[in-house]
Amino acid sequence: MIKRVEHIGIAVTDIDQSNQLFESLLGIQQYKIEEVESESVKTSFIDANNTKIELVQATSEESPIAKFIAKRGEGIHHVAFEVEDIEAKMAELKEKGFRLLNDKPKQGADNKLVCFLHPKDTNGVLVELCMSVWE
Ligand code: CO
Repeated sequence: MIKRVEHIGIAVTDIDQSNQLFESLLGIQQYKIEEVESESVKTSFIDANNTKIELVQATSEESPIAKFIAKRGEGIHHVAFEVEDIEAKMAELKEKGFRLLNDKPKQGADNKLVCFLHPKDTNGVLVELCMSVWE
């Protein structure tokens, strides 16, 4: 079951500058900056009450975020839906013909297990499924 839009991921080139921008825009400070080495990204989370904003900056040229920005510029990168049981949801979606970008849930930022879906199957939107593993 889908619980809510957990966060919206935004690709940025300068995370410090974007933190300031969002603080100025929302009046809310980021609560966590975290590097995810497996994805070559640095992330920052802003809790906008009902959902979150995840700012994502590449830490290497090989990062999917660097490639995304080179192609499309900064902007909305993914929408993350929180699910109750990520393995069950992945199996259900696979059965329905959605392509999963990882076969097993992987460890994402902010204490989550995550899985991405192929954007060609979802109207060009990169969809992330996420499930909290530790609060
Ligand atoms: Co995300």
